[in-house]
Amino acid sequence: MKFIVDQQVEDIEMPENLKLNTFLQEFHSDCPHPECSFGFYGFAFGQSPFPVPKLVQEALIKNADKGAYAAVPGIPELRNAISKYNKHYFGMDIDPERIYVGPGTKELIFNLLEILHGTVILPTPAWLGYLPQIRFLKKNYHMLPTRANKKFSPNDLRKLALRLQDRQKILILNNPHNPTGLLYDRLELEEIADVCREQNITVISDEIYAQTTYDFSKFVSMGKIYPEGTFVTNGLSKSHAAGGYRLGYVIFPQHATDLKGQFKKILATEYTAVSTPIQHAAVAGFEISKEMDEYFDVTRSIHQIMGEYTYHILSAIDGVKTTKPNATFYLLADFNAFATDLQKANIMTSQKLSESLILHPYHTAIVGGDSLVLERTDFSARIAYVDYNGSEDYQNYLEDKPKTSSEKVEFVKNNAPKVVAGLEMINKFFENLKKDTNYDLQTQKNSMIAP
Ligand SMILES: Cc1ncc(COP(=O)(O)O)c(C=O)c1O
Repeated sequence: MKFIVDQQVEDIEMPENLKLNTFLQEFHSDCPHPECSFGFYGFAFGQSPFPVPKLVQEALIKNADKGAYAAVPGIPELRNAISKYNKHYFGMDIDPERIYVGPGTKELIFNLLEILHGTVILPTPAWLGYLPQIRFLKKNYHMLPTRANKKFSPNDLRKLALRLQDRQKILILNNPHNPTGLLYDRLELEEIADVCREQNITVISDEIYAQTTYDFSKFVSMGKIYPEGTFVTNGLSKSHAAGGYRLGYVIFPQHATDLKGQFKKILATEYTAVSTPIQHAAVAGFEISKEMDEYFDVTRSIHQIMGEYTYHILSAIDGVKTTKPNATFYLLADFNAFATDLQKANIMTSQKLSESLILHPYHTAIVGGDSLVLERTDFSARIAYVDYNGSEDYQNYLEDKPKTSSEKVEFVKNNAPKVVAGLEMINKFFENLKKDTNYDLQTQKNSMIAP
């Protein structure tokens, strides 16, 4: 039997994270070297390594008997808890009626793009999740490339908006930002908001990494700066290391009453409601407690220690430029200074660069430029510094908090040996590339597959 797939599905590409997964699995089963058995140094996956907070796990167990469907926008306890969470951590007064709960923010962003008419403005580089959704919905879109500092300029946003004919434009703002780890501060957000007001731009502010901001006092939600035009999305995935729970929320702009009915219709049509036990577990995660406060504090401190180490090691490699992360567990490394050597080695695209780094003897997984919505030939990559045992490191951090710079370096060496070794491999790769300008990926690949 031959099944015919709808054209709009044929037209979208496999999301890059799934592509990467398949590639790594294939590589793994093909590699004959004994060193391959340990897997690889994983800088590719954007997943927090910490355990799901204990009290969230306990609440899930306690509520396993909740078999009834929940209300479409979310259970009232959860919407109330999210409202208080936003007040406590982000200084926002949000009526729980403005909050909608969904199965992850990825789905909620998709739902927003479904109901909002207009051309999408996507600053690049970007998280690899947005573009397949925009394409699937056949929306008009324009990239907004960032400047040398890896942030987009409000002036460039204005210039682009002036060229667009649509009555409504939708800016996807991701703050703090994946893949650069950068944070737009209050002043920068105010400048962006000025342009949005002037040009009638609606903002989807993806703030899934808000809680990871290293100096938490510096984080400001766009929902506070531009409350009349911003949809804020956030959830459990990064701050609570619970991506697999699939729970996110969106805060609607002030006075968006008409729109809420339309949105509810979409949610009810597509998934009815998020799993009821998961919603009860999330209540425990969003309620203000000493345990959660400590959890956020410890996890963001460890992300910062790992981030600073990764930044220092990579930027010490001659020719490598990297962003200095203020949040998240990523940074963007720019290897374009090696472009000529890479091309001589027959590595013409960022995808090829990722493939070369995964091969023996490097075994290092990174996410290359075109998966970050950059040109295929842009040799930039996202480095996710999360390849360590989060449960153990959390305890070790609590037992002996590193304070000085050298204690922090020691902490990384003792607690994240794969991060240390993987960064050495990246260094070695570029050293070898420089040494051997005749380096040929194909030769290396063949030798790897030979019996
Ligand atoms: C920028 C960004 N937004 C959204 C998501 C998806 O979050 P969720 O698990 O809530 O769907 C991710 C996950 O990697 C992300 O990096």
